[in-house]
Amino acid sequence: MSTLIAPSILSGDFANLAKDIEMLNKSDADRIHIDIMDGVFVPNISFGFPVLKAIKRYASKPLDVHLMIIQPERYISQFKKAGADTLIVHFEACTHLHNTIQAIKREGMQAGVAINPHTTIYNLDAIVQDIDQLLIMSVNPGFGGQKLIDHTYIKTELARDLIEKSHSKAIVGIDGGVDLTNAKKLIAAGADLLVSGSFIFGSNNPTKTISDLKVK
Ligand code: DX5
Ligand code: ZN
Repeated sequence: MSTLIAPSILSGDFANLAKDIEMLNKSDADRIHIDIMDGVFVPNISFGFPVLKAIKRYASKPLDVHLMIIQPERYISQFKKAGADTLIVHFEACTHLHNTIQAIKREGMQAGVAINPHTTIYNLDAIVQDIDQLLIMSVNPGFGGQKLIDHTYIKTELARDLIEKSHSKAIVGIDGGVDLTNAKKLIAAGADLLVSGSFIFGSNNPTKTISDLKVK
């Protein structure tokens, strides 16, 4: 399987989202990564349902919705209605993570779990079989444009081991600071999916940058 690329629309042009989505539709991107921030779980606020619905109207690719919000279980069916294909919740934001994962799947979405840089992979050993995506935060969530934390490589290898030992079908995603200096090393460590925002949208030719990140 070639690497999956999920450009993060957080670094797109919010006054001209349709243009960015059209570019992604025509590109080698596999999914579109959508960051929802509540100003409580992370020290930033991004956008909510109206913007997600607008993206859904234009997007021909699946939407991975990354919830950086407290108590995400309150909004599962609303995110389904707004167009999420995969709903990613944070381990650190869920008191009853198993329940939340089941509720996401009952709504007909794929279930993802994201972990912050300080959270170890071993916190997931009881639920890794139930999820479709394990998203390793390679920066502290809240902002695009940060530098990837070095410990990410070891964590990615540990995630890959855990998934194989558990016979889980989950893919391993990496989110934050991904660029062409680290993409190959992340893939060698076991990453299946790379989220990239500022590196793609800040480049001269985002379509080409997406193809370049996709190691075949
Ligand atoms: C960070 C977000 C990321 C972010 C990635 O909180 O979850 O998805 O948009 O952006 P870059 O690639 O710029 O680090
Ligand atoms: Zn994200």
